[in-house]
Amino acid sequence: MTEYTKSLINTLEKNRTLTESEYLSLIDGYTPDAAKYAGELALKAKKAFYGDAVFIRGLIEISNICKNDCKYCGIRKSNRNCDRYRLTREDILSCCSHGYRLGFRTFVLQGGEDGYYTDDVLCPLINEIKSRFPDCAVTLSLGERSKESYLALYEAGADRYLLRHETATKEHYELLHPTSLSFDERMRCLFDLKEIGYQVGCGFMVGSPGQESRHLARDLKFVEEFSPQMCGIGPFIPHKDTEYSSFTAGSVELTCYLLSLIRLIKPTILLPATTALGTLRENGREMGILAGANVVMPNLSPEEAKAKYTLYNNKLTSGAESAEALETLKSRMKAIGAEIVCARGDAL
Ligand code: 5AD
Repeated sequence: MTEYTKSLINTLEKNRTLTESEYLSLIDGYTPDAAKYAGELALKAKKAFYGDAVFIRGLIEISNICKNDCKYCGIRKSNRNCDRYRLTREDILSCCSHGYRLGFRTFVLQGGEDGYYTDDVLCPLINEIKSRFPDCAVTLSLGERSKESYLALYEAGADRYLLRHETATKEHYELLHPTSLSFDERMRCLFDLKEIGYQVGCGFMVGSPGQESRHLARDLKFVEEFSPQMCGIGPFIPHKDTEYSSFTAGSVELTCYLLSLIRLIKPTILLPATTALGTLRENGREMGILAGANVVMPNLSPEEAKAKYTLYNNKLTSGAESAEALETLKSRMKAIGAEIVCARGDAL
């Protein structure tokens, strides 16, 4: 690590802000010892607010039907090899009951942009979840919707919304997506969600096709300025039925370095050690937690659904869906000095 890189990490810890070109220097200055140094400061910053706590979110993948054709994604509309499914209201409620018994106090309803889930379907469902489990938070991750829809879902009781921005550079966004999707619309959604009052999560892939360090620098500046309550980042992993099938996956090490930098930008942020990280490396989630992440999102979806929600190759399906698996997760976290906490885990 150069003295300059070290001084930038120190400045980031102190001021929580850098210029975009300084972020670029930090990214280009990546070395294992720079990552180690940033990781130590990130852990300190996390501990000051959250101690050793790691929050768990019960992920329920409600549908892999999607009207979009994002070029990197395995459940893109034009993938004929994807076996489609949609959970019913009863399926979803029983996932919540099961998760509640295990100790989950946040349920994340995630899915493709499936037209079946209109506000008329979702609002009563969110209402029902909140009345059966009043001490739980409901997080939605259902893609782009109108402001009116986001508002209706919020009024029905949804607390949080995850919508990765994917890349904060318009040209790069256009490379990764079909022309029917626009960067400006993505940003519109994120700003609307924030204005309505949701706890909002943005995020991006590391090592996505065409990504350069200047794109990541802009992602960091965007995270700094947008200041979301959550940020999901994970390595890009190729999916066999996409045009990127032969591309290389993103780096676990660079992802962890970026997790540390994001923790330094915003010490109170809720930062998951993502499934993609755990998929690429057996101990990827532990590496993420040690780099500054403080959330894990075990999969509560029914087994048949899990197998079909294939965003990328070899997606990790084991989670904390059973008491036994949750115990395993707890002991794995304990082994690295972290403690799984069964609480809503709102952002501070
Ligand atoms: N590799 C890694 N992450 C992916 N996602 C979609 N496809 C892939 C892939 N091939 C991520 C996107 C999306 C989230 C649900 O999953 O960032 O927002």
